[in-house]
Amino acid sequence: MNKYVHGYNENEANRLNNQADSLANLIHFDSIWNEGSLILEAGCGVGAQTKTVANHNPKSKFISIDISEDSIKEAQALIKSKQIENVEFLVADIFDLPFENQKFDHIFLCFVLEHLTNPVQALGKLKSKIKDNGTITIIEGDHGSTYFHPESEFADKAIQCQVELQRRYGGDANIGRKLFPMLEKSGFNKIAVSPRQVYVDDSNPKWVEGFTKNTFIAMIEGIKEDAISNNLIDKEVFERGIKDLYNTANGGGTFCYTFFKGKAVNFLS
Ligand SMILES: C[S@@+](CC[C@H](N)C(=O)[O-])C[C@H]1O[C@@H](n2cnc3c(N)ncnc32)[C@H](O)[C@@H]1O
Repeated sequence: MNKYVHGYNENEANRLNNQADSLANLIHFDSIWNEGSLILEAGCGVGAQTKTVANHNPKSKFISIDISEDSIKEAQALIKSKQIENVEFLVADIFDLPFENQKFDHIFLCFVLEHLTNPVQALGKLKSKIKDNGTITIIEGDHGSTYFHPESEFADKAIQCQVELQRRYGGDANIGRKLFPMLEKSGFNKIAVSPRQVYVDDSNPKWVEGFTKNTFIAMIEGIKEDAISNNLIDKEVFERGIKDLYNTANGGGTFCYTFFKGKAVNFLS
């Protein structure tokens, strides 16, 4: 597996949960699949999205997998604490899936392809596990869609460090815009991609906290040591960038970011 740019730790688990909770309506209002489906969630992490999609589809059964054993343990504990009973967890690798072909009605993945060196190959592996006429849903971000007020070249530079580090680890932080062509290349049919824009201003303090501060700025703050030790940026410039990002969230600022949600069908004949 590639090095995971955000790392596995308590801060990142909290960030993933903040991200999932603040975005739940925007990205999951339509995450409702056919009743009685068998659904594979690939790269479930600490279960931050699992709790929402499993709740939205109470009559379907989920098998949620991740390559990280620790994340699976956390996800299991979270789902148990929410008394959600339609999810089974498994440690497994997307590139070596322990399932027979055409097992699943639907596959769901969120913020996973962006970390993989070969996302099209991953889609091919996943596609082979989907039934004829089965479907896939993919959600990804795109850091190129980030803009805010007040503007800051320092903040832009700090964000660019994240993009560059993720690239060096084999991933792609600007993958959202590529969902359609990737699904097409992987042989999926009836592909539809919709942008889901987050727009945050002072009228919605919950989004200022949950998204701008605790999801986005927390993510950029999390790569500080890596960015500096890799000589991508000077410490002072990075710190100024973070300070300026907080200025977008401390009264009078605004913040925009766009996620992309792709849906497609697997026609075998
Ligand atoms: C950014 S996290 C997203 C977790 C979750 N989907 C969410 O949105 O909160 C990416 C996850 O993909 C997992 N992952 C990366 N490569 C994988 C692979 N080859 N097979 C299975 N999981 C993988 C990582 O372990 C990590 O938990």
